[in-house]
Amino acid sequence: MAKSLISLGMLLATLAAGAATITSPSGDIVLNFDVDAQGAPVYSVDYKGKTLVAPSQLGIVADETEFKDGFKILSTDTVTVDRTWQPVWGEYSDVRDHFRELAVNLKADDPQRLLTLRFRVFDDGVGFRYELPVQDGPNYLTVKKELSQFNFTDDHTLFCIPGDYDTDEYLWSETTFSKLPEALGSYHRHSEAQRTGGDVIQTPMLIKTNDSKNPVYVNIHEAALAGYPAMLLDVDVENNNMSSHLVPDRLGVSAYLQLPFATPWRTMIISDDARDILASQLIYNLNEPCAIEDTSWIKPMKFMGVWWEMFTGNEKTWAYSDDYLAKPGITDYSTLKPNGRHPANTENVKKYIDFAAENGIDGVLVEGWNEGWEDWASYRKNRQFLFDKAYPDFDVDALRDYAKEKGVKLIMHHETAANAADYELQLDRAFQFMKDNNYDAVKTGYVGAIIPRSEHHTSQWMVDHARHVIERAADFEIMVDSHEAPRPTGLARTYPNWLAQESARGGEFESMGGNPPSHTAILPFTRLKGGPMDYTPGLFETRMSYYNEGKDSQAGTTLARQLALYLTMPSPMQMACDLPENYQRFPDAFQFIKDVPVDWSDSKYLEAEPNRYITVARKDKNSDDWYVGTITDDKARKAEIDFSFLPKGQKFEATIYEDAPDADWKTNPQAYRIRKIKVDSKTRLRQHVAPGGGTAIRLVPVAK
Ligand code: NOJ
Ligand code: CA
Repeated sequence: MAKSLISLGMLLATLAAGAATITSPSGDIVLNFDVDAQGAPVYSVDYKGKTLVAPSQLGIVADETEFKDGFKILSTDTVTVDRTWQPVWGEYSDVRDHFRELAVNLKADDPQRLLTLRFRVFDDGVGFRYELPVQDGPNYLTVKKELSQFNFTDDHTLFCIPGDYDTDEYLWSETTFSKLPEALGSYHRHSEAQRTGGDVIQTPMLIKTNDSKNPVYVNIHEAALAGYPAMLLDVDVENNNMSSHLVPDRLGVSAYLQLPFATPWRTMIISDDARDILASQLIYNLNEPCAIEDTSWIKPMKFMGVWWEMFTGNEKTWAYSDDYLAKPGITDYSTLKPNGRHPANTENVKKYIDFAAENGIDGVLVEGWNEGWEDWASYRKNRQFLFDKAYPDFDVDALRDYAKEKGVKLIMHHETAANAADYELQLDRAFQFMKDNNYDAVKTGYVGAIIPRSEHHTSQWMVDHARHVIERAADFEIMVDSHEAPRPTGLARTYPNWLAQESARGGEFESMGGNPPSHTAILPFTRLKGGPMDYTPGLFETRMSYYNEGKDSQAGTTLARQLALYLTMPSPMQMACDLPENYQRFPDAFQFIKDVPVDWSDSKYLEAEPNRYITVARKDKNSDDWYVGTITDDKARKAEIDFSFLPKGQKFEATIYEDAPDADWKTNPQAYRIRKIKVDSKTRLRQHVAPGGGTAIRLVPVAK
C-alpha cells in the first residue's frame, strides 16, 4: 500500500498540529477532525455545505488500556491519490480510486498511548480506521469496545435489519430512529442464533435523510474486515446517534489483538442521488489489491443445482437414509437403508449435467453428496461431515468423467453445520479431494451454532476462519461461494476467488414464507455493497402449491422479474435455481438466462430508490452486447429507460422480456411477453413493470 501511495507523485504534506479539515476531490464532502476538551478524538462530516454527521467520538477500549481521551495531536499527514485498478470480475472493468487522505497521529500520556486515525474522503463517501502502532504500553490488547459514533442530526429514515451475532437472514425494515424499537420488536430470535436485543442493527444499513427536497443517502458499513469482529450499530433512538457494537465471543471479548494492528475501515457511502450508492466502489477501494498473482483460473460462472428439489416441499432430503433415527453413531454408511428421496444420486446428477450441457450452463452444484447428514439430523449434534467420502449412491469417479465429457463443471458442497473447527482440520484433504475429482468451486455452509461453542458466526475467530478458508482455497486454485459466513466487506478485491456469499435472506426463503418484492429492491443498496450475493435467481415456478397442495408459500415475484434479477443483483457466480423441468416449460424465457453474462465491463444505474425500484444497464465484458434490467416493489410502475448510454450511431436489436399487462406477482406471476424492437442512443422507453415485476432486455448490435 505504502509503495503505491508514494509512486503516484501526489501532494504530500505534514501539517502543524491542530484541528484538521479535508475535502473530497469534488469539494462536496468535508471531513473535520479535532480533539475535544477531554482530549477525545472527534470527527464530523458536511455534505454540500450542510452538517451530515455532527461531531462524533472515536476510540477503542481494551482491558489493558483505553484509547479514548487524553490525546493531543502530534502531527497530521495529508495526501491525494488518484489511481485506477482492474478487478478480475465485477460491474466495471476499470475502477477509479480517487481520494484525499488525512492521517492524524495522536499521543496521550500517563500512561503513554499512541493512535493514528486515517481518514479517506472520496467523492462518494468517507472511510476511516484506527491504527495502533507498537507502543511503550501494552502490545497485546483484549478489546471490549470500539467507540466509533455516527451522530446524525435528525430523525431520518433507516433501512436496516436487527442486530444479530449469527445471521443476516432477515427482512428489512424501513423505519426512523424514533420508530426503530417498534420495528425491531417484531423479530423473534433465530433458532440457534444470538439476537442482541435492544436497539441494535446490522451493517450494511442505509439512511435517507429527511430533507424532503433533497434527501441524502448514506450507506454505513465496513471495509476489509480481517483479524477483528464484525461491526453492528447501537442506536441511540432519542439522539439519532449510532455507535459501533463489536461482535463479542461468548465470553464477552470482541478482539484479541497484537500490535501493530489496523482495524477494518468504517465506511459511509454518501450521495443525494440514490443511483450513486449503487454505483459506488468505495468499499472495494478501501480493500487491499489482489493478493493472487495468477488469476487466470478464476472464472465467473452460471450454475444449476441439485438443490431446489430439497426446498419444494416434496420431502426430498440431503441425507441418504432415514436410518439415523434407529442407529445413533453411524460408522458404516453402506449398511444404511436408502430412503429413496435423495436427489444427490448418480442418475439424477447426470440429468442435471445433460441439461446444463445442452443449455450452456457452466456448472452443476450437488448438495447432499457426502456422509454426515444423518449424524447431524440425529440431533446428537455431532455434526461430523466427511468432505472426502461420498454416499453409496453417488459415484464420484463416474460423475467426474461424465461431467468432463459433457464440458460441465461439478460444484462441490461443504456443509459444515457450523463445525468450523473440524472443517479447518479437514480442509486440505477436502480441497485435495476436489482437485483430484475435477471440482474448481465450492459452496460452503455454516448452519447452526458455531463449534467451538465460544464463537459466533461474525466474531473475530470466525472472521479469521473465513479468511483462512479463502486463502487456502486460493492455494488450491479453488473458487468459493460461502453461505452463513461473516457478511462481505469487499475482501473479494483481495481474494477474487471469493466469488459470492449469501449473508442475507436469500431466494431459498421463497419456499419458506416468501420474500416481498421490496426485498430485492433494498439488498443492492445495503448487503450488496460488501460484495456479490448468491441470491439464487431464476425461479420460474413461484407457487409452492404447484408441488404440494398443502403449501401456500408464494414467491414475491413475477417470472419476468426473476430475469431482471440477473442484472439488478450482479454476481460472478449466478445460479439458475429452478428445476430443469420448469425451464423446459418456459423455453423462450429461459433463453434470457442462457444469454445473460455474469461479468461486465461497464454499468450505468438509470433509476434508483431504495425499497422501491432499480433500473440498470450493463455492458457484457466479452462482447458488444448491453443488457438492461428493471424491478419494482409491489406497485406497478413505468420505468423510464433512457438508452443514451449506447454508442452513438449504432442500432441495437432489443429483445424485451416483460410482464404481460395483466401480470401481478400475487395473482398472475407467470404472465410474460417477449418482443423485439430496434433502439439506439436516442431511444427513450416507458416500460410497464407489474406489481412485484421486472423487465429484462438484451441489446445486440445490428450489423451496419
Ligand atoms: C443453507 C443454505 O443457505 C442453503 O443454500 C443450503 O442448501 C443449506 N443450508 C444446506 O447446506
Ligand atoms: Ca442460508
